[in-house]
Amino acid sequence: MDRRHFLKSGSQLALLAAGLRQARADSLPVHSEHAGHAAAATPAGSVPLLPRGERLPALTPLANQSALDGQFVAQLEAAPLPVALWDDARRTTFWAYNASVPGPLIELWEGDEVDIAFSNRLPQPTSVHWHGLPVPPDQDGGPHNTVAPGETRHYRFTLPEGCAGSYWYHPHPHGHTAEQAFRGLAGALLVRSRNDPLRHLPEKLLVLSDLKLDADGQIAANDMADLHDGREGQFVLINGAWQPQITLARGERQRWRLWNATSARIIKLALPAHEVHLVGTDGGLITAPRLIDSITLSPGERAELVVTGRFAAGQPAGLQSQPYERGKRMHAEQEQDETLAEVVEHGVRPTPVLPAQLRDIAALGTPGWRRRIVLSENMGDPRAPFLINGRGYDMNRIDGTGVAGRIEEWEVVADAHMDHPFHVHGTQFQVLARSVDGIWEDEPFLAWRDVVNVPAGQMVRLRFVQALPGLRMYHCHILEHEDQGMMAQIDFLPG
Ligand code: C2O
Ligand code: CU
Ligand code: CU
Repeated sequence: MDRRHFLKSGSQLALLAAGLRQARADSLPVHSEHAGHAAAATPAGSVPLLPRGERLPALTPLANQSALDGQFVAQLEAAPLPVALWDDARRTTFWAYNASVPGPLIELWEGDEVDIAFSNRLPQPTSVHWHGLPVPPDQDGGPHNTVAPGETRHYRFTLPEGCAGSYWYHPHPHGHTAEQAFRGLAGALLVRSRNDPLRHLPEKLLVLSDLKLDADGQIAANDMADLHDGREGQFVLINGAWQPQITLARGERQRWRLWNATSARIIKLALPAHEVHLVGTDGGLITAPRLIDSITLSPGERAELVVTGRFAAGQPAGLQSQPYERGKRMHAEQEQDETLAEVVEHGVRPTPVLPAQLRDIAALGTPGWRRRIVLSENMGDPRAPFLINGRGYDMNRIDGTGVAGRIEEWEVVADAHMDHPFHVHGTQFQVLARSVDGIWEDEPFLAWRDVVNVPAGQMVRLRFVQALPGLRMYHCHILEHEDQGMMAQIDFLPG
């Protein structure tokens, strides 16, 4: 592996890739809001040696130990990982899958039989949740199925046809999901299709995560503001690197897959100097490309974009995060555009055709059942500050029953002063309509999603089917809210 990749040496490995040791404190910007926070939060005169401005690190693939077609067999381990982020002997202890932050890329094909042996070397119980994938409930690493420290379990599932898309995996032990994820446990999972209309385009994978360091240079614990608003650190990293560089030719078309793996940031992304088409959401391609100016990704959400290099004069060439207000009370709102990645011009290339049609998505029909899901905040009670339908999560209470195979229609309401990104396990849903200032607006296009942001005071109507019976969670994907009770569970009985 070259220096641009995570450096492996025995069980220890330096993450945060490229240029870690070459980075100089004086090369860090002092004008950006992030750097200001970093300087304030870290020991006087010392800033972490995060790689910055280096080439976007590639994700490390998880090796398939099976030679058989249609089979994926691998090992995954969660363990503490000391990393040299400082100019001295200090080590910052992350928690990592296979000693890599973000975790290794799991690349699968529709139809694959998957068997992943997972070992827990953390000091806490954990689990691996396959966010967005239609895996059976007992293989989905929910809070009821944790792996004790020192133990190993296998996750086994078969991927159905038609599920190609950008998924991810992260821990889900109740009360500790946020902590385990923000210490570094999260990785991308791709399901590929053999008839992918965009396979001719070069692909870039961008996993966005949040890093918050304390005054000792360690991963900070959550403070009051984080517990209320959701955690926000000093750095937004992409594939473990800070403000990496992406090369793009004029006229070139690249397919970008983006993951919002932060705890709580709702990130409004834009590439103002370029042409951007939305081509996919959480659960894969949409029916046809849509030209967009920006895309707002809430925590847990993914998108596929086709970026055409234009380098329009007078516009910032990079990947920008634009201000978005999500109703935070204790963190400052972002006021200006910030550059998350530089995009560097690299020659001129012909522009390949973007297919007019990507795939068929059939609209889900008349529901067999309707539910109303109310997300609310209850700040007066520190034991139950975040609620669904008036109750905090209880592992031992089943909040409803459904029937596998039946169409469900849910109206999800944020009766709250903050936005709450809503997630359902084990399936993909279609958003039918969203309210804007109380007025319903039909969703303009069909897409498969598993996270949808419900803005403060607003409502979203969605439909889905759970194909498999069993217990499924639904929750806010601001992980601090989930851990503090904004989660519930429904048992789907065999149809
Ligand atoms: Cu991404 Cu219940 O989780
Ligand atoms: Cu999930
Ligand atoms: Cu929330």
